[in-house]
Amino acid sequence: MKRGFFITFEGPEGAGKSTQARRLYEHLQVAGYPVILTREPGGTRIGELIRRILIDLRHTEMAPTTEILLFSAARAQLVSELIRPYLTTGGIVVCDRYADSTFAYQGYGLGRDIDELRAITNIATGGLKPDLTFYLRIDVEVGLQRKRVGRERVEGSSGHPPEWNRLDARDLAYHRRVAEGFNELVRQEPERWCVLDAEQSVDDLAEQIWQLVMSRLAQDTPIAAQ
Ligand code: TYD
Repeated sequence: MKRGFFITFEGPEGAGKSTQARRLYEHLQVAGYPVILTREPGGTRIGELIRRILIDLRHTEMAPTTEILLFSAARAQLVSELIRPYLTTGGIVVCDRYADSTFAYQGYGLGRDIDELRAITNIATGGLKPDLTFYLRIDVEVGLQRKRVGRERVEGSSGHPPEWNRLDARDLAYHRRVAEGFNELVRQEPERWCVLDAEQSVDDLAEQIWQLVMSRLAQDTPIAAQ
């Protein structure tokens, strides 16, 4: 079966993932690669409805298990409706967050068992893993502040305006555990991750990402620009 290339972006709030995912997508498109851009939670009609439930500030009573299953349900729909079919055609998928967010946020952040989350994630994704994951590293407080003041919107191109949501509203200690969780995930699978400093300029970061993607595509896949 023909196989494409699956790129994900991860990081704490306000790292500028959405902006960078869009920049990469646009660059690949202009260069003539077959590419789609999507996001989690969301990316499909059903997934966007689930997203609304997940981020609603009024839903303070949501049980952690409900939260995990809703993220996983949105992911299952995205993988089956969009990601897997597109990879099968040999295309490149760029996704703003994926399963690593569940391990970092619900696992390390909320303290849920990682092996249990891996089992649920396997059901949701059928075992589909990214080929390459960018981790945009930023100090947690700087990131939260950036998100609060909507700096990503000022910089312009994320596509979705940043919203202050139920998950952002969790306390600083939670966001610190999440960031430490991401570091741990990178340590476990260093060959898949590429860690970049998100406090540098948007343009410099985009250029680094572009160079890395070009060299990986040259090594790993037969995908060519048309
Ligand atoms: P979003 O506004 O998209 O945040 P960001 O711009 O930082 O990606 O909201 C998504 C929120 O959902 C974000 O706080 C991270 C969280 N999340 C989880 O807790 N678990 C998950 O599995 C995923 C995909 C996201």
